[in-house]
Amino acid sequence: RVRIFSGVQPTGHLTLGNYLGAMRRWVEEDQHRADALFCVVDLHALTVEHDPARVRRLTRQAATLLLAAGLDPARCTLFVQSQVHEHVRLSYLMECTASDGEMRRMVQFKEKAARAEARGGSVRLSLLTYPALMAADILAYGTHEVPVGADQAQHLELTRDLAVRFNQRYGATFVVPKATYPAVGARVMDLQEPTSKMGKSHAATAGTVYLLDEPEAVRKKVLRAVTDTAGEVVYEREERPGVANLLDVLAACAGGEPARLAEGYTSYGALKKDVAEAVVEVLRPVRKRHAELAADPGYVDGVLRAGAERARGLARPRVDAAYRAVGLSA
Ligand code: TYM
Repeated sequence: RVRIFSGVQPTGHLTLGNYLGAMRRWVEEDQHRADALFCVVDLHALTVEHDPARVRRLTRQAATLLLAAGLDPARCTLFVQSQVHEHVRLSYLMECTASDGEMRRMVQFKEKAARAEARGGSVRLSLLTYPALMAADILAYGTHEVPVGADQAQHLELTRDLAVRFNQRYGATFVVPKATYPAVGARVMDLQEPTSKMGKSHAATAGTVYLLDEPEAVRKKVLRAVTDTAGEVVYEREERPGVANLLDVLAACAGGEPARLAEGYTSYGALKKDVAEAVVEVLRPVRKRHAELAADPGYVDGVLRAGAERARGLARPRVDAAYRAVGLSA
C-alpha cells in the first residue's frame, strides 16, 4: 500500500496557506487512498526562538485543527513528533549523510537566519540541521509520497538525495520519496505582500488568514488585500501578483480555473467580495468542529497517544536497520 507522510510545524496559528497547500488534500484525498501519517512536528518548532508554553499550546491546537479539518483517526495516523523517538535517532544518521554545504544552501535557512540576525539574535544550530530531521521524519516510514505546498520543494529534493546516497553507501534501506503538490493553492501568498508566501510566523498579521479567524476578520483582511492600480481583473502571476493570488484562492476555495474566473469580473471590489465569502465558507465547518473538539481534550489526547504508538511500531524496524547498516548495533 502507498505510504504517505506529511507534517506541520506548531510555530504559529495555522493559516489558509497550510490548509489549501497541504491539509485539505490530506483530508479529502490522501487519508482515503493510502496509509497516511500526519505529524505535528514540534521538535522543528524549537529551531527558532520559542516560548515553551506557546509551543505546547500550538502543538495541541494544530492537532485539534487537523482533526477539525477532517482527518479521521480511523483512516490515518495522527501524532506528535517528539513522542516518537525514532525521528531524532534517524536524524543523527541523516546529519552523518548530508554535507554542511548542502544544508547551507537551503533557501529557508538563509531567509530565517537572515531574519534572526537582522533582529540581533543568534541562529540556533538546529535551524541549519533542520532538513536532516525533516528527511528523518519522512524516511523513517518508508514514505512514497509527501503532500506539501510548493515552499517545501527544496527540502524534499534534499531528502531524496539523502535517501539515494544512504542507500548507495550502506545498501538499500530507504524508499526514495516524492513530493506531491496541489493543482491550485500550492503557493498562497500574503494578502498585504503578495510576493511573499502567507506564513504563520509572520509578525504582521493583516495579510494572513488564520483558520480560526472569525468571518468578520476574514472579510476585513480579504477586502483590504493589496492589488494594483491597473483596475482590470486579469490573471498574471508575475505582473499582477496580488490579483493573481486572489484568483488562486478563489479557485482553490470555490473551484474553477484562475484565468477563467478572471473573465467574470470587471472590478477588484466584486472579486474580493467573492473571495472573502468563499474563504469564510471553507473555514466555517473547520472552526465549528474545532470548538467542539477543543471542549473534549481527552479525545484528542487519546488520538495522539494511539497515533504515536502506531508510528513507533512502523518506524522502529527501519531505523534499527539503518543503525545496523552504518555499523552501529541496534
Ligand atoms: P509548515 O509548517 O511551514 O507548513 C505545513 C504545510 O503547509 C504548506 N504551506 C503552504 N502551502 C501553500 N501556501 C502557503 N502559503 C503555505 N504555507 C505553508 C507547507 O508547504 C507544508 O506542506 N518543513 C515543513 C514541516 C515538516 C514536514 C516534514 C513536512 C517537517 N517534517 C516532513 C513534510 C514531511 C514545514 O515547515 O511546513
